Parts: sequence; C-alpha cells; structure tokens
Amino acid sequence: MTINNSFFSKRRSIKAADMASYALDPSDLELILAAGIRVPDHGALNPWRIVVIQGNKLKELDQEIILSEFIKANPQALQNEIKIESTRLQRAGVVIAVLSTPVEHPKIPVWEMQLSSAAVCMNLLVCAQSMGYAAQWLTEWYAYNEAMLLRLGGDPTKDKISGFIYIGSKIEEPKERRRPDSKNIITYL
Ligand SMILES: Cc1cc2nc3c(=O)[nH]c(=O)nc-3n(C[C@H](O)[C@H](O)[C@H](O)COP(=O)(O)O)c2cc1C
Repeated sequence: MTINNSFFSKRRSIKAADMASYALDPSDLELILAAGIRVPDHGALNPWRIVVIQGNKLKELDQEIILSEFIKANPQALQNEIKIESTRLQRAGVVIAVLSTPVEHPKIPVWEMQLSSAAVCMNLLVCAQSMGYAAQWLTEWYAYNEAMLLRLGGDPTKDKISGFIYIGSKIEEPKERRRPDSKNIITYL
C-alpha cells in the first residue's frame, strides 16, 4: 500500500522567515479552518479555541503585544532585535493561533485535552501544506506571554497557547531536514 500521493512521507514545513506574506484566498482559509477542528477529541469537549490573525491585525499585534512586551522585558533592546520583534506575525499571510482551553471533567484528564489541541495545530499545518502553502508551527517566546494569551481571549489560570500556525506562499521548495532514524524510535513487540 502507498501513502496517498506520498504527501505525508514528503511533507515539510517552511520557515516563517522564508515565506511570502500574501493574504490567503478566503475559501482556502475556510477549508484549512474546517479541517483544523476535525480532530480526535475525547468526550467531544472541544477543549481548544482558534484565533485567526490576518490583515492589519498582524501588524497591530506585532506592535501592541509582541514588540511592546519585548521592550518591557528588554529595555536595552538593540535596533536589530526591535526590527525582528516588530514584524514577527507579518512574516505570514495569516497566523492561526491555537489555544488549549481545558474544561473540568470527572474522567478525562487535562493532558488529553491538551493533546487534542496539538492535533488541531497539526491538522491546520498539514491541511495548509497539502494545498501547496508554506506553513510552520511556531511558539517562540510570545506563546508564553500572558498579555498575548489575554489578547487572544485565553484565561491565564488554565489556558495555554499551543502554537501559532504561520501560513504564507512558497518562495522555493524546502530542503529536507535531518530526520530521526526509525530504529531509534520504533520498537515492534
Ligand atoms: C509545539 C512546537 C513549537 C515549535 N516552536 C518553534 C519555535 O518557536 N521556533 C522554531 O524555530 N521552531 C519551532 N518549532 C519547529 C518548527 O515547527 C519546524 O518548522 C518543524 O520542526 C519542521 O518540521 P517539519 O518539516 O517536519 O514540519 C516548533 C514545533 C512544535 C511542534
């Protein structure tokens, strides 16, 4: 048996720094979002939220959250650091933030709800990549920043940012990266 179109055996992320930031076709974005929330979810609790950041919101969050929080933590920041922090989200055409938003449940552990939110990230990523977009799953420092979590509507007492899925256009095909040796990873009992 072969994997469909060998997509999954060749799939590769493209760095946010190496993608072009054209806006996505809205119908493609709809498809990616619909696929993103079609994930295994123990108890159908939907313990995740998605926030789509696009258009002028990319710049707004870059300035109002990422840059301002960076400068607060690094008052002596150098000019080149300020340049990097002021355009983080603007590297992509759209950035999809995925929040893990666990709920209280008598049987289902929070860990499983967090795993399900990682599945949302992976589905968004592979769906975008399967459509020919450049995409990358990043956290960087601002996934752990409380102001960012609040801006995205999260509750700092329980929610976490699982990742930012950067999606843009491909400038060139990515090179393969080092992959694990399956002998070190997989055991057959
Ligand atoms: C939860 C998570 C967070 C990540 N955060 C970062 C990050 O902050 N910076 C980075 O360079 N790569 C980060 N990565 C790795 C990138 O997604 C990288 O593009 C990926 O490992 C490439 O693998 P692929 O080509 O198999 O998709 C992260 C990966 C995961 C799963």
